Amino acid sequence: MISFNVPLVIGNEMDYIKEAIGQKRLSGDGEFTKRCCRLMEERFQAKHVLLTTSGTSALDMAAILCDFQPGDEVILPSYTFSSTANCVLLGRATPVFVDVRPDTMNIDETKIEAAITPRTRAIIAMHYGGVACEMDTIMDIARRHHLRVIEDAAQGVMAKYKGQYLGTIGDLGCFSFHETKNYSMGEGGALLVNREADYERAEILREKGTNRSKFFRGEIDKYTWVDLGDSYLPSEINAAYLWGQLQMLDAVNADRLHTYAAYREAFTPLAEQGLVEIQALPEDCENNGHLFYLKLRDLEERTAFIRHMKAAGIMAVFHYVPLHSAPAGLRYGRFAGEDIYTTRESERLVRLPMYYGMTTEDRQQVIATALGFFADGGVHDA
Ligand SMILES: Cc1ncc(COP(=O)(O)O)c(C=O)c1O
Repeated sequence: MISFNVPLVIGNEMDYIKEAIGQKRLSGDGEFTKRCCRLMEERFQAKHVLLTTSGTSALDMAAILCDFQPGDEVILPSYTFSSTANCVLLGRATPVFVDVRPDTMNIDETKIEAAITPRTRAIIAMHYGGVACEMDTIMDIARRHHLRVIEDAAQGVMAKYKGQYLGTIGDLGCFSFHETKNYSMGEGGALLVNREADYERAEILREKGTNRSKFFRGEIDKYTWVDLGDSYLPSEINAAYLWGQLQMLDAVNADRLHTYAAYREAFTPLAEQGLVEIQALPEDCENNGHLFYLKLRDLEERTAFIRHMKAAGIMAVFHYVPLHSAPAGLRYGRFAGEDIYTTRESERLVRLPMYYGMTTEDRQQVIATALGFFADGGVHDA
């Protein structure tokens, strides 16, 4: 059996967890949390990185920092995970969904401006599979319309746009360290605070509404409740696990990109014959091998393909059900403009197994089995 995902285990995590336990201080913002944040700040040239309990909580923090109010509107793609839209609901604002580009499945930057109204407050750019959205255009629209930009870079750790790491371009960036992501702490994430003006409030928000971080730095002599807050601090045990993984940032990235390149090479001839489509990698983007997908003819062919792979013991999966057609999307959001690609393209997309350390044999088996499906020209064989 070839799993769709195998959670990353480097092998050094237990040593660091033991070290964390030895420090007898397991609550948040201890030594390992600081090490992780410092490493990411330096590596990604990020102003401030705050470790969080999930990618979802990083998005929630970003939305709270943007201060969405009832009646406000926030522009985002419908082809994304629920958390991207859920954070908008925290302020009782309205998610306004815009169609995706079929080549990358990212929000179509050329359709954003038509969705802007006097109530629009922000754009959330989700970088699908670590392939960047067209950020220059998005940042320019945001500047001209005085909008905030949140990057949902849950899948984008280590990926770049025009040489700049994803998550560091917008006002706020969100990483996920869920076990399905390139680097993991089980459940976890990080908020990248790219504007100095947001930082003090971000620290307070993450520390239950208190100015405890300032107190720990010796900037004040007692701490107190000063603003809205919640608890978004992961424990040192999780941070120690992540620290082990961050030691291998480059090796993991290179390994995943190796599998990605092998898939790309194997399926490019099929794409040239028009039997499948694969994700475009625009010139300005450096991806991180988070995922590899094929787009088949339609839902029916995709269903047959998944069955064909499963019969050979290979798990190929699809996502997402577009948010605007999900029950909460229907209740709380609206689609701006026409859904030309979101539904149609999502129904024909299937992801192949992709994880760190995938063996050449397993990769070859996935490729051979998938190619076998198309050997008769893509006619359904399952
Ligand atoms: C695009 C996107 N946004 C947000 C999330 C939420 O991250 P987490 O599972 O860490 O809460 C995920 C991952 O699950 C995701 O893929």
